[in-house]
Amino acid sequence: MSGSTERTDAPRVVLGVSGGIAAYKACELLRRFTESGHRVTVVPTAAALHFVGEATWAALSGRPAATETWENVHEVPHVRIGQNADLVVVAPATADLMAKAAHGLADDLLTNTLLTARCPVVLAPAMHTEMWEHPATRENVATLRRRGVIVLEPASGRLTGKDTGKGRLPEPSAIFDACRAVLRYGGERTDLAGRHVVVSAGGTREPLDPVRYLGNRSSGKQGYALAATAAARGARVTLISANAALPDPAGVDVVRVATALELRDAVLKAAEGADAVVMAAAVADFRPAVYAAGKIKKVEGVEPAPVELVRNPDVLAELSAHRTRSGRVVVGFAAETDDVLAHGRAKLARKGCDLLVVNEVGDGKAFGQDVNEAVVLGADGSETPVPVGPKEVLADVVWDLVAERLDSFVG
Ligand code: CTP
Repeated sequence: MSGSTERTDAPRVVLGVSGGIAAYKACELLRRFTESGHRVTVVPTAAALHFVGEATWAALSGRPAATETWENVHEVPHVRIGQNADLVVVAPATADLMAKAAHGLADDLLTNTLLTARCPVVLAPAMHTEMWEHPATRENVATLRRRGVIVLEPASGRLTGKDTGKGRLPEPSAIFDACRAVLRYGGERTDLAGRHVVVSAGGTREPLDPVRYLGNRSSGKQGYALAATAAARGARVTLISANAALPDPAGVDVVRVATALELRDAVLKAAEGADAVVMAAAVADFRPAVYAAGKIKKVEGVEPAPVELVRNPDVLAELSAHRTRSGRVVVGFAAETDDVLAHGRAKLARKGCDLLVVNEVGDGKAFGQDVNEAVVLGADGSETPVPVGPKEVLADVVWDLVAERLDSFVG
């Protein structure tokens, strides 16, 4: 199956699978890799084989699964598999696997592979919430991230058994997208490793009554691209998502909000101790002064009452003015319809942020599109034009500029 699409220059991926019930989801991840032409060697641990057998891995990858350090010893598999890989991804990564990786233990083929890999390593954890939150796991994850390993944040939701919480394996499609992004960089970009970044995305909705709201056209695509790109570059990412109908990017902590006030609370909380905050969300400047508890009804022959509005707090200005952490980079977005650069410069000064991404909106531009065109203005007077292209490209330019500024704080 994989033979038909596989090319000799195809990226070589090692898919490690450790022993958790989510191992069955790795089959879907494997299928995505092989169908898009990657050469995949599956390295399941002995415990993983209790969940999914060797035959499944072999059939889906089109090559034998590598299970034993002591098989084909003349080919030195414990060193060769890791050395030859362009990417190692472990899904699911159990608490035990991460503990071994953090301490450099190598008692089976997968842990040996992790020690010999010189390529980017992505770990997609899955475990019960208590295990994820245990100080031992927290420290192991922090150690791995400090070393440049990309440890995706687990998703929240239903766990094995009846409990729910944080610890679910991210969706295979999301892990796949994260791996593709890492492969795109060829391991060159882990410049955000060890950083915590916060991104807001989408558009707020300000309720008028239980069925109506004031909203805007933001789809959230640019913010989601920023979050996914930062995760692929090694950052721990918190995404504050306002009404975006998009799948969660893998490895990103997603906090859902509806209104500007909820967004403000969530952003300020997440921003404590964060290295950078990027406000890509379209935050409503005004909200209805009064929320009608019941649906506002039309009355025959009576004109509707005008909707009185009040100002919402400006989250970006607040973040810039009250930096709890010196050395934090604050980035805003400006959606303008005319005189784009002049308005952008004035807004940058008014909001007090370090960078402002200015794009032209209206006439089908920016909102809901997969491409974007912008100029990134710096408080230092810099101007970085980004030609029309995928939102991921603009996201990368933003993170390049953020990383430069973070590095200069350290230096
Ligand atoms: N923003 C914010 N809080 C608000 C309004 C906007 O944090 N209440 C942020 C947005 O997330 C964005 C930036 O401010 O990063 C600019 O948003 P924009 O709507 O273009 O600017 P406004 O301040 O609303 O300016 P104006 O409407 O006058 O153009």
